[in-house]
Amino acid sequence: MNIILIGFMGSGKTVVGHELAQKLGFEYLDTDELIEKQSSTSISQIFSEKGEEHFRELETQVLQDLKSKDKLVISTGGGMVLKPENVKILKGIGSLVLLWANPEKIYSRVKDETHRPLLKVEDPKAKIEEILKFREPIYKKVADLVVDTSNLSVEQVVEEILKWQKLR
Ligand code: S3P
Repeated sequence: MNIILIGFMGSGKTVVGHELAQKLGFEYLDTDELIEKQSSTSISQIFSEKGEEHFRELETQVLQDLKSKDKLVISTGGGMVLKPENVKILKGIGSLVLLWANPEKIYSRVKDETHRPLLKVEDPKAKIEEILKFREPIYKKVADLVVDTSNLSVEQVVEEILKWQKLR
């Protein structure tokens, strides 16, 4: 049994993932971190030197190694589920939990960060709204569980996931 966290940048995947993994006694993995380790470069560098398309290929590759693993909480990059091929692989690996947050909340969480290439634009707030509008139906369609984290603490989000996981 594996739990896969999907959702936009700033939706809390990393912090919730760590806490959830600890509560379950699972290992925590982050696909962005795996890509950075395997290519010995940062996500920003991959985007600027090789382009987004190349990064998307690396995302699919990294999933292949997770197919036979168990007891993982896997945090995925915000664009991971945009490719139907990735969704298919992920569904075979575990349950998909969407951490949702409204654009205002996302902006307040990411505005002081510098490591997100897609938000290095003049008007990041408008960019967040634009990308989210496009992605929302995809995120919500592929998710097995949706948790709106906008007004919840990390502990409350983890509790919701654990409650759902026990009920199934
Ligand atoms: C991306 C989100 C990032 C990272 C890359 C692209 C996206 O991951 O994979 O910058 O397309 O939303 P986080 O969601 O972990 O920030």
